[in-house]
Amino acid sequence: MRGGDDAFLLGGRPVRLLSGALHYFRVHEGLWRHRLGMLRAMGLNCVETYVPWNRHEPSPGRARDVGELGRFLDAAREAGLYAIVRPGPYICAEWDNGGLPAWLTGRLGARVRTRDEEFVRAAERWLALVAEQVVGRQVDRGGPVVLVQVENEYGSYGSDRVYLRRLVERLRALGVTVPLITSDGPEEHMLSGGTVPGALATVNFGSGAREAFAALRRHQERGPLMCTEFWCGWFTHWGGEEAARDAREAAGVLEEILGLGASVNIYMAHGGSNFGGWAGANRAGDDFRGALRPMVTSYDYDAPIDEFGRPTEKFRAFRRVLSRYAEGPLPAVPPTPPVLRAPVVAHPAGWAPLGEVMDALGGPEERGPVPPSFEDLGVDRGVVRYRFTVPGPRRAYPLWVAGLRDVAVASVDGVRVAVLDDARDPAPIGEVAGPAEVELWVESLGRVNYGPRLGEPKGVTGGLLHERQYVHEVAARGLRLDALEEPGAMEAVGWRPAGAAGGDPGLYRASCAVAGAGDAVLELPGWVRGFVWVNRFCLGRYWGRGPQRALYVPGPVLREGDNELLVLECEGAGEPVLRLSPAV
Ligand code: GLA
Repeated sequence: MRGGDDAFLLGGRPVRLLSGALHYFRVHEGLWRHRLGMLRAMGLNCVETYVPWNRHEPSPGRARDVGELGRFLDAAREAGLYAIVRPGPYICAEWDNGGLPAWLTGRLGARVRTRDEEFVRAAERWLALVAEQVVGRQVDRGGPVVLVQVENEYGSYGSDRVYLRRLVERLRALGVTVPLITSDGPEEHMLSGGTVPGALATVNFGSGAREAFAALRRHQERGPLMCTEFWCGWFTHWGGEEAARDAREAAGVLEEILGLGASVNIYMAHGGSNFGGWAGANRAGDDFRGALRPMVTSYDYDAPIDEFGRPTEKFRAFRRVLSRYAEGPLPAVPPTPPVLRAPVVAHPAGWAPLGEVMDALGGPEERGPVPPSFEDLGVDRGVVRYRFTVPGPRRAYPLWVAGLRDVAVASVDGVRVAVLDDARDPAPIGEVAGPAEVELWVESLGRVNYGPRLGEPKGVTGGLLHERQYVHEVAARGLRLDALEEPGAMEAVGWRPAGAAGGDPGLYRASCAVAGAGDAVLELPGWVRGFVWVNRFCLGRYWGRGPQRALYVPGPVLREGDNELLVLECEGAGEPVLRLSPAV
């Protein structure tokens, strides 16, 4: 594969990439084949995926199943698709921290995504892990990989060309021989900041193809034209409105792109779900100083293939356009995977208060003069408990949490007094007289994945203030979500009968009998905010705030007979009811 003057050339023959984004980590592995078959049936000849560094390197030097990428690429080849791999190091993608490991951003801060030696060393190690999966699967070796992307929209973030050059050199040194690309917004400063010699520049946009490619041509006179992200839908925030884009209008833009002779990657062809609590967040406002806007668990994206894998009106509209550019007749649309045969209602039988779950499964408690961040405590996803004593005796004064990210349940002398967020900084707990014992349970709602506040830490990042005085003695302890997935974790928890829980925050366990397993949705009526697992597979965050009301349960997660449901509720449990319904 190489980039010719105006087309990609494969074995000397021009090929147009008709690609669709599908992130393997947002689709249950048991459903990859189905989804890839859907891409083929829509008329695509290629699939594109990011590779999330933070998911595959949970702590420094400890790789976790990078082979998943290789298995996905094999599945793509079997489905008859080429593949584009985008390993970052930064990926944006509405993914926690834009894919950067929290252990790295916590230490390096604004040094990430630059030539900073420590960052580059870590990034090179990451790229080496990716290369192990990719190099032998390049198209000239009989594999599906036709392009590899360097960084991601770097021109929307930085201007360190030395950094980009080092990434290009490293990928080549690791044996990547297919064309490298960069992708950027079609603006002069983005293209000049994000492109690098040795990688083909491409553009990302949702409309205005002609103008976008004209901007690209001003920057790069020759080479295949490619839209690496044609945004045919959009993402959704908690507390926001569900994103939607008209199918016919989007198909019109696809038509325009293809009519200009360009290659395309439809972002997203199939969005999937933010399983595992990995959803990212944005900062509102043009200056990115505004409120946190955390992403919902669904990454449906109003994509042509919906979160359940079903074809939508947009699928049919795109298929009509793509069929005119396909090499032969399009394959039939694969049948939708089976859905759960009948609704099931489960009732929690056991529970444990949050404090006891922390005792059983939390990390070590750290004590010091200032509150540590999630990053300091090694918590990528999960909750942190801060404990401190307001000194006394002293009269009542306002007690504040400065730099809170993102939401905290506060109690004083064992009584809940407030649920705090970052709408006000410092966040007010209320008037408190000393001495008093204070507990704060803080949850990260997802790290910022885009803009200059990328990588900002989570937890209490400012301090604890009584009137104007810092409280300089804090104990903090983290509970990582994946601690609940460790073998033996549930045996370590002291379970109590759930009837006595009274709606308190805690870990709840239910079993439910399923006959006719298949795709389902899970609803938690009246539950406020937390995470849920089905047979230890973490579906992600639920939140009564909406707009998302039900979580997608991939069929392969359920089994015939008995199934285990676990709910980690951080604010207040609802009715003792968990409702599984067929995905329709
Ligand atoms: C940019 C990024 C993607 C994604 C989209 C919005 O183009 O490159 O990762 O965040 O925006 O969905």
